[in-house]
Amino acid sequence: MTDAFTRTVQLSTEFIENGDPLGWFEALYATANGDPTAVPWARLTANALVLEWLDRGLIRGKKAIVIGCGLGDDAEELAKRGLEVTAFDISESAIAWCRKRFPNSPVSYQVADLFALLEAWKGAFDFVLESYTIQAMPPELRSQVIPKIAELVAASGQLLVICRGREPEQPLTTVPFPLTRTELAGFEQAGLSAVEFEDLCEPETVRRFRILYDHARF
Ligand SMILES: C[S@@+](CC[C@H](N)C(=O)[O-])C[C@H]1O[C@@H](n2cnc3c(N)ncnc32)[C@H](O)[C@@H]1O
Repeated sequence: MTDAFTRTVQLSTEFIENGDPLGWFEALYATANGDPTAVPWARLTANALVLEWLDRGLIRGKKAIVIGCGLGDDAEELAKRGLEVTAFDISESAIAWCRKRFPNSPVSYQVADLFALLEAWKGAFDFVLESYTIQAMPPELRSQVIPKIAELVAASGQLLVICRGREPEQPLTTVPFPLTRTELAGFEQAGLSAVEFEDLCEPETVRRFRILYDHARF
């Protein structure tokens, strides 16, 4: 039997090669048939890097949005901590799965595409969480997706980005596609400013960046 990661690489490669770089997410969730072990990023618990950051108590506002929320654990965690949370994903099956997992949740789960944001969401959120969505898209989309994420952040809002990190000379092969500092500078070009940039290296080879941004004018 093919493991979840191999299946993810196969599906994403096939969709990307066919010119549909966002279509594989729905295909993956739909064919998982409710089995989280078929979704490589599904931990069924909030991301430890999010939890550790939240424990610092730095969040200023109340209205939060979770980008590419997957199975909803980070969104639920934010709601538990008193935030008013919207969480969206391009995959209908992922959102249906969130609603099934958390039937009484205060989180507003929505099917939405980052590339076609609702006008009402622009500049509307005090806290925006982006973890692992950018790296799941082909690098050619980075210059488009980063400004879209920045658009969600309110004038006095904060954005937390968590992603795999790499040096420019490190080759990109298949998903996940780690980001460079230069690519992340797109957030600054979009009007945000990095308050803290953490370069986190885990045992083995996984390198992650965790960056807090706010509005340069704030
Ligand atoms: C690698 S997963 C990460 C999920 C979750 N954020 C986490 O940290 O576990 C990327 C998620 O982004 C969603 N996604 C990809 N492209 C998207 C888009 N254009 N708009 C909204 N969600 C998107 C996928 O469906 C998937 O759930």
